[in-house]
Amino acid sequence: MERIIRQFQEGILKDGDMVSVKGAIHRMKDMGDFAFVNLRGPRRVLQCVWEKAGAPAGESADVQKDFGLEDWVVATGKIARDDRSPLGFELHLTELRKVGGPSEKLPLEINNDRKVKNLKLETLLDERVLTLRNPRVRAVMRVAEGIMYGFRQFLREEGFVEFVPPRLVKGGAEGGADMFMVKYFDQKAYLNQSPQQYKQAMVGVFEKVFTVGPVFRGENSNTPRHLTEFQGLDLEMGYIDGFEDLMDLETRMFRFLFELLNEEYQPELDLTLGKGERLPDIGEPAKISFADAKELYGKMSGKKVQDPVDLSPEEERWLGQYFLEKTGSPLVFVTHYPSVKRPFYTMDAPENPRYTLSYDLLLYGLEVTTGGQRIHDYEAQVAKMKKRHMNPEDFQEYLAMHRYGLPPHGGFGLGLERIVQKLLRLENIREASAFPRDRNRLTP
Ligand code: 4AD
Ligand code: MG
Repeated sequence: MERIIRQFQEGILKDGDMVSVKGAIHRMKDMGDFAFVNLRGPRRVLQCVWEKAGAPAGESADVQKDFGLEDWVVATGKIARDDRSPLGFELHLTELRKVGGPSEKLPLEINNDRKVKNLKLETLLDERVLTLRNPRVRAVMRVAEGIMYGFRQFLREEGFVEFVPPRLVKGGAEGGADMFMVKYFDQKAYLNQSPQQYKQAMVGVFEKVFTVGPVFRGENSNTPRHLTEFQGLDLEMGYIDGFEDLMDLETRMFRFLFELLNEEYQPELDLTLGKGERLPDIGEPAKISFADAKELYGKMSGKKVQDPVDLSPEEERWLGQYFLEKTGSPLVFVTHYPSVKRPFYTMDAPENPRYTLSYDLLLYGLEVTTGGQRIHDYEAQVAKMKKRHMNPEDFQEYLAMHRYGLPPHGGFGLGLERIVQKLLRLENIREASAFPRDRNRLTP
């Protein structure tokens, strides 16, 4: 179907041309002399018209008797130009051939956007096989696809090399708590909570690397922003002069992603954000240190600062809104997080080692990235481990890359579903995942 839509828009196909399209019957409506039979292709819904009088021999005039919703068909018909239609044409059917279809009554009206929107989250997710077919719901997944595609495209052009880390590991590089244990023959293994160790090791191989793939966190908390399995977009690069290089790269990356989505994902943005709505200009995102952000929040909101070493969701939201009004940008970099809140591999700020050379990026007031410079020197890394009462002997695997030498480097990790959630203004991160996993959900 997409090829035919494109060919019509490019003028290759014209009014009156006969074509065949594949799709599922998305909606049918009897109009008296004729019926609408709308077909859902992989990206769009094409309006087709079934003229009763013109029904071919052997076919029933009553299309709704012979066909049902979600029947998979091959439709043949004549292109009829129609400037009111969003695609510029409809199809006047001459033949409809069924190649597949449901074996039972559908539990939901998936062509009814309003009803689907009003479904309880649990139902929306329990019936995912069907609800994902709703054009608005699937547009969300298509935007997620666009972000992965753009991430890869942007980084390749920047000279990064994609690699694949293992998911099964013996221990974690983010601290080790909240990991899922799996039985691994006669020993214990874990599902990796971050590709951190492997992307750093790959800096020693390709200098600039990235990876896209599942990351597992034993998040026990049931929040609108946590999954137990999410898609990590991770990168790591050598020869940085400072973590500012990472913030610059990430700003350019977001600009690229927004432009890509605005240009190539218009049908999806129309469906999810509203007709004609587009993603905003990235502008110049604010950069504010963690300490200053805390102080600003305390001063401007008049509220008491609670946790002195971490930002609460409420503080993140507030900062996002404050700087959105001030700079027009949906992005805010919060830099120099307290060392106690950052993993052992994070480089401390030389001028004040209570803080780190790291940052979080907020997108519309939600953390979507943590990044920073890493310790590349073996002695320095061992010293920081000891200071944290970690036994370097337990981390010999991790430290191998330091023993063999690494350039100064740093990187960052993004959560795909959080980006989608914020860009498309979804209340719950689960809506941004095709088949989300959380504390209570392992199906479908
Ligand atoms: O902030 P996190 O834990 O950082 C790391 O994993 C580092 N290794 C990244 C680095 O290169 N320094 O996770 C990175 C991002 C978060 O900012 C968030 O967007 C997402 O991953 N994330 C989650 N998304 C959904 N559900 C969860 N439970 C998430 N935990 C983190
Ligand atoms: Mg983080």
